[in-house]
Amino acid sequence: MRRGLLTLAVLGGLGLAGAAAIVGFGLYNVSAQVGHLPGVSWVLHTTFRNSVSLRAPAPEEVPPLDDPDLIALGAGHYATACAMCHGALGELQSATARAMVPAPPPINEAVAHWEANELHWIVENGAKMTGMPAWPAEARGDEVWAVVAFLKSIKRDTAPRMPSPTLTGTAYCQSCHGDIGGPVPRLDIQSAEYLEAQLIAYLTGDRPSGIMAQAATRVPEDSFAELAEAFSNKPAAPVLDPVPGEGPGAALARAGTRDVPACLACHGGQQPSKGPRLFGQNEAYLLAQLKLWRDGTLDHDALMAAAARDLTTEDIKTLSRYFAGVGR
Ligand code: HEC
Ligand code: HEC
Ligand code: HEC
Repeated sequence: MRRGLLTLAVLGGLGLAGAAAIVGFGLYNVSAQVGHLPGVSWVLHTTFRNSVSLRAPAPEEVPPLDDPDLIALGAGHYATACAMCHGALGELQSATARAMVPAPPPINEAVAHWEANELHWIVENGAKMTGMPAWPAEARGDEVWAVVAFLKSIKRDTAPRMPSPTLTGTAYCQSCHGDIGGPVPRLDIQSAEYLEAQLIAYLTGDRPSGIMAQAATRVPEDSFAELAEAFSNKPAAPVLDPVPGEGPGAALARAGTRDVPACLACHGGQQPSKGPRLFGQNEAYLLAQLKLWRDGTLDHDALMAAAARDLTTEDIKTLSRYFAGVGR
């Protein structure tokens, strides 16, 4: 008995010493030219597949993914965040990307074996020690669905052309903000000061968004003021009635309730006293942002965080429809 334990202890010690030698003396060859030892690739890939199946959101949580604006937004993000490794549709991947171990599969192969919920998990979480990055903003799984919508369109063979990844400056911003509505906000209704402050917040991470963090790091920081100026409200917008519209949305925006302050106290008029203009903004964008404020994912402004805290999902729908519908 004691002898057996002793043998085990000695073997364990030798194992540890061996491992320490491999790490300490650099005996393990990390060269990507050598690839993995036989069997290791299989173990890694099987671990990956099972890990994804275990953790992916339930299929019922997958939102509708057929909206052309959502797909176009995903394509826009893919162009600068994914194509460098997985290649553009129908184009050869760069020789350098193909020399990675493991190599990123060409995108049509990468999507072939996964369902939408699994693709969401992969794109949000990435995969350790493979080069596959995680989504660059925390708690913004909602944004990842745009990319999944694009990946699904590839699977269905209906993918739109993605914008050229070589666009720069305003043309680059325009590829989303000029051509896509829905989840992409209009910029032309806002002041340059507001737009510039948002770009800085995206860059520092104060306002979490993987899509806009990517965009804000692709242009020089000293061009923010110029870009904000270029996209901001130019010709004086048509004068609005101070409390336009009727119905439940107008009433809530104007008067609030016991728990919800009047939105128009801050956001009213052509030049809101606080915060951005909401009249004429895209409905899908307003809906998504209000949920993020309500749920505490966005908290970079204490006034707005307090204003949204007690909104019900029904309030959010009513207010988004109201603000989107006025002043278009
Ligand atoms: C720096 C390179 C790199 C970037 C950028 C990258 N990926 Fe990957 N991706 C990889 C690698 C490498 C793998 C393979 C992982 C493996 O085989 O275990 C992978 C795996 C995947 C898979 C799973 C495919 C499979 O069956 O193994 C999907 C889907 C995917 N990536 C989508 C994306 C999307 C969408 C983006 C952009 C948001 C992206 N990737 C950005 C390198 C990258
Ligand atoms: C891939 C598409 C895409 C590109 C490219 C892009 N944007 Fe955006 N932009 C978005 C989305 C989506 C949002 C909403 C993000 C969020 O959830 O906060 C947004 C939000 C913004 C906002 C905040 C607007 C508001 O009402 O608060 C500003 C400002 C902005 N973008 C400016 C730019 C500028 C300037 C560029 C070019 C450097 C650019 N964007 C490039 C998709 C894009
Ligand atoms: C006390 C002032 C105040 C009140 C009341 C208020 N907000 Fe805001 N809101 C703000 C400020 C300030 C911001 C901008 C925060 C920032 O810098 O990003 C904002 C941002 C927003 C945004 C993001 C818009 C965009 O373009 O990204 C939405 C949507 C919004 N508010 C809707 C509402 C609604 C709906 C109500 C009423 C329930 C409301 N707000 C009440 C101050 C307020």
